[in-house]
Amino acid sequence: MVADIESLLVQRYGGSDHPRPEPWNDTIRAMLSHHSTRHFRPDPIPESTLSMLIACAQSAATSSNLQPWSVIAVTDPGIKSTLSDVADHQSHVRTCPLLLVWLADLTRVSRIVGEAEEKDSGIPFLDTFLAASLDTALAAQNVVIAAASLGLSTVYIGGMRNDPARVAKLLRLPLSTAPVFGLCLGYSSGNSAEQIKPRLPQSIVLHHERYDDRGWPAHEQTYDQTVRAHNVKVGRPPLTWAERVRKCVGTPAALCGRDGLKSALLKLGFQLR
Ligand SMILES: Cc1cc2nc3c(=O)[nH]c(=O)nc-3n(C[C@H](O)[C@H](O)[C@H](O)COP(=O)(O)O)c2cc1C
Repeated sequence: MVADIESLLVQRYGGSDHPRPEPWNDTIRAMLSHHSTRHFRPDPIPESTLSMLIACAQSAATSSNLQPWSVIAVTDPGIKSTLSDVADHQSHVRTCPLLLVWLADLTRVSRIVGEAEEKDSGIPFLDTFLAASLDTALAAQNVVIAAASLGLSTVYIGGMRNDPARVAKLLRLPLSTAPVFGLCLGYSSGNSAEQIKPRLPQSIVLHHERYDDRGWPAHEQTYDQTVRAHNVKVGRPPLTWAERVRKCVGTPAALCGRDGLKSALLKLGFQLR
């Protein structure tokens, strides 16, 4: 069934108080329809589909055309199983037919700049690592959208950064590469939790001319309750947004090892100056 704009916006903002923008086409419909999937059928993804998805990834904008990313397509059950362990034992990392491990990859540009010049180059700086990570995300998001247009479902896996050294060893990564995130891909096996998740009111994230968050206190509690109602509806623990935020970033331990990311990246060859 093809969803109409009104129902997609109601779901995206969790109620009737949503913006009513005019332009509407199939690309926008696909974006508004996004939701992550964590339950996959085992059906493999054809190699030709993977190749087209990567062409979409490579069509994303990239800082100065540096193209500072690579991606590893993992279908091997043993490798997926170890990567699932890295990602705090998330089962969908094991059960998805295809796991893409997205890497910030400065190996190629480092070689061009040359080892001797590298210490005086722009390579060892935080901004260059950030640019590589940003470009990786832009490329991956193209895959998410293209995959959805082909009936494939996805979920990102930030847990791939829990232990970059273990990922690097397992996937035989060279220095100057680091996992940014994983992306599980496959055909959804259907699950009641797979529904459009309501986002913050648009007036809270869209500012005009100057930053202005005076509206937030009036919206905070409402959004908390919207998220709680959504969680109840899809059968998840009845957490508010604030409770979920605290669970995810309320303590360093909540980062599941990612609080040590800086030292892990230094060991992988990123100087982050
Ligand atoms: C960079 C990134 C990392 C993520 N890491 C995980 C993860 O490790 N495990 C997971 O199940 N979902 C992960 N997600 C999915 C988010 O939880 C999800 O996008 C968010 O809750 C919004 O839900 P939606 O995608 O269904 O709209 C990640 C998303 C992003 C963008």
